[in-house]
Amino acid sequence: MRLGVNIDHIATIRQARKAREPEPVAAALIAELAGAESITVHLRGDRRHIQDRDVDLLRQTIGTRLNIEMAATPEMVAIASRVKPWQVTLVPERPEEVTTTGGLDVVQHASAVRATVSACRPAGIRVSIFIDTIPAQVEASQLAGADAIEINTGPYADAPDAAKPLQLGLIRETAERAAALGLDVLAGHGLNYINVQPIVALPHIIELNIGHSIIARAALVGLDRSVREMVALLQR
Ligand code: PXP
Repeated sequence: MRLGVNIDHIATIRQARKAREPEPVAAALIAELAGAESITVHLRGDRRHIQDRDVDLLRQTIGTRLNIEMAATPEMVAIASRVKPWQVTLVPERPEEVTTTGGLDVVQHASAVRATVSACRPAGIRVSIFIDTIPAQVEASQLAGADAIEINTGPYADAPDAAKPLQLGLIRETAERAAALGLDVLAGHGLNYINVQPIVALPHIIELNIGHSIIARAALVGLDRSVREMVALLQR
């Protein structure tokens, strides 16, 4: 299973002082050297961490794949069309949230999602959609023309131990449904060095996007080590 490392928190530390360091490009290159197969950043409307210059510089420097998480808005579509990342991941965005709090409601926002997919096609950008474990969301993602879904593992991560098997079952069913429809299956949110193991054992999921736990561990043991340790856990 591939590891995508979300480096938003590196930019959060920089923005805490509106300073020049730490440099997200440096973090991305270290993560790649340690085995990350993609680099994810969330360019938020409020620019609280990742900035426009970061996506431009990452696009020019990284050797793996750039995945930009973004809202399905004309502003973000224009940026993606210019930067041409390997993939965009459509996420819901609420200005007051600390982090993404749930999957995108693709059923409700079908026309905005379809418009975003059509705009990304000519630029050759893959589109993944971050969704909850709801069958209608998988079907709506496929109908909207997405290449992939990213299953929201947040409810699994947050569930008490007794409720984790139920959440794991929902992730499994969602992965099976998406794979049967020809979608690539990714997953992420709230995963750490302990709760990731049952997810690794599930079929169909080809990549995990992990941020907080890796960057938090990096603050104590270094980024090279924290990425390598997660890469090792993802080996099936
Ligand atoms: N996937 C998506 C769509 C996200 O929004 C985030 C958080 O930015 C992640 C994965 C990574 O979540 P975490 O930081 O909890 O590992």
